[in-house]
Amino acid sequence: MEYIYTSDYQAMSQMAARWVAREVLRNPALVLGLPTGETPIGMYRYLIRLVEEGLISFAETCTFNLDEYVGLGPDHPQSYAMYMKAHFWIKAGLKPENINIPNGIAPDLAEECRRYDAKIEQAGGIDLQILGLGLNGHIGFNEPSHNLAIRTHVVDLTPETIKANARFFSSMDLVPRQAITMGIGTIMQARKILLLVSGDNKKEILRKAVYGEVSTIVPASILQLHRDVTIITDIKI
Ligand code: F6R
Repeated sequence: MEYIYTSDYQAMSQMAARWVAREVLRNPALVLGLPTGETPIGMYRYLIRLVEEGLISFAETCTFNLDEYVGLGPDHPQSYAMYMKAHFWIKAGLKPENINIPNGIAPDLAEECRRYDAKIEQAGGIDLQILGLGLNGHIGFNEPSHNLAIRTHVVDLTPETIKANARFFSSMDLVPRQAITMGIGTIMQARKILLLVSGDNKKEILRKAVYGEVSTIVPASILQLHRDVTIITDIKI
């Protein structure tokens, strides 16, 4: 694991954007795995700036989002599809046919999970997977558990994650209890992984993920087994 420490959130976001830009410059047809949440917002903003300055282009890049809430359609204001439209997809200049996110309102969710995996496979797998870190150590929505699913699946969110996600909803009752998430196997098959972590409230869990035992109870600890992980963070551990 390569650990890049930056002084604060802005520096982390700028460093992450430059790091991703370098990958896109090397391979404009990159297959990019993307997270939502608070952490990557600054990186998305810097990436869009680089696009606007004409320094990089996502015109040939194909993206796969990590997850989507079950029950929220792409036009729901709190869906991850809407988040992506607001923060990245449109201004980054991605072609609509190159954008992928699980459909949280698919009539048959098991079939939707299979469709998503097949699409990732057809694209040749993920070249660069960007991840955030949940307070409980989740990556994507692979929650702490005795068993981790390998492929895309429907997951029951833990009370801790539901509470953390409540930030984005007007009431706790509206927070979805389930999500579709890429599985640990697909994440681990990505050729490169970039983990972004910000804020001292994640210090303990980041330390466990990097130095702790590899355990399904801290899903991010599994990243220790991947041969090309870079962590960009404003946390000293
Ligand atoms: C979101 C995702 C989650 C988040 C994690 C951190 O697509 O997959 O694993 O990356 O919950 O969220 P923030 O950045 O809001 O702290």
